[in-house]
Amino acid sequence: MMADAFITVDNIGRTFTGENTVTALQEISFSLNKGEFLCIVGQSGCGKSTLLRIMSGVDPIHEGKVTINGKVVDKPDPSRGMVFQESRLLSWMTVSQNVGFALKEKEKEKRNQLIDEYVSLVGLADFRHSYPRELSGGMAQRVSIARALVNQPEVLFMDEPFGALDYMTKINMQNELLRIRGKNQMTIIFVTHDIDEAVYLSDTILILSKNPGKVKKVIQNTLPSPRNRNSEEFLEIKKQVYDCFFIQEGKEA
Ligand SMILES: Nc1ncnc2c1ncn2[C@@H]1O[C@H](COP(=O)(O)OP(=O)(O)OP(=O)(O)O)[C@@H](O)[C@H]1O
Ligand SMILES: [Mg+2]
Repeated sequence: MMADAFITVDNIGRTFTGENTVTALQEISFSLNKGEFLCIVGQSGCGKSTLLRIMSGVDPIHEGKVTINGKVVDKPDPSRGMVFQESRLLSWMTVSQNVGFALKEKEKEKRNQLIDEYVSLVGLADFRHSYPRELSGGMAQRVSIARALVNQPEVLFMDEPFGALDYMTKINMQNELLRIRGKNQMTIIFVTHDIDEAVYLSDTILILSKNPGKVKKVIQNTLPSPRNRNSEEFLEIKKQVYDCFFIQEGKEA
């Protein structure tokens, strides 16, 4: 099964030594199919961002191996997009300029076409000439999503992208992301603390334990879409994730 997978994570480990030695990741192995939506959940400091950075090629690999589409990941690549918790926009650039900032395409007309397409896709066509200070938090986060999508990545890595947003905006952004994904068929690796968010978005939920950061549980989430957050089936999966943190915690060796 691993051989056919689109992404394989094979025995990844990462220990930070210093005043405190932290085993951020230990023996992490899993695989993903093309187009799969994986949510990684775990408590603060368990190694979620470290795993995301290793998988995307931003951080070097110390132990183990990651492959995407059969190729070993050893550096960042434009085929992989990244969205962070804060929108990280350049304050002196407009929405369009921010989206175009890291665009690979160099030919002017095609560039402008792509920028317009992705600014519109995230619903900001009317704000293309606005500066980040003129945007709400949700709008700024849309710009950073457009910036990650404009290179048409095969894989989108998102590190708590909606963590700083208020509840209503967060829910709107979750729906927006599902809508965009319906058009682009990307594989998405999405880190979150929010159990409700993980159950709403994912095909698969990977739960990490803390120090050592190991795979504690993998939950296949086959709830049909659109999902109803108040349905019994939805609450049942939420409970499985919740119990993994708060019921089994005391039993861990
Ligand atoms: N560059 C580094 N040097 C030393 N320790 C690090 C480094 N990066 C991460 N760590 C440690 O590794 C552990 C995992 O960190 P990481 O940022 O991956 O956690 P996280 O799950 O993303 O947490 P949060 O939910 O708070 O973002 C933490 O204990 C952190 O202190
Ligand atoms: Mg983190």
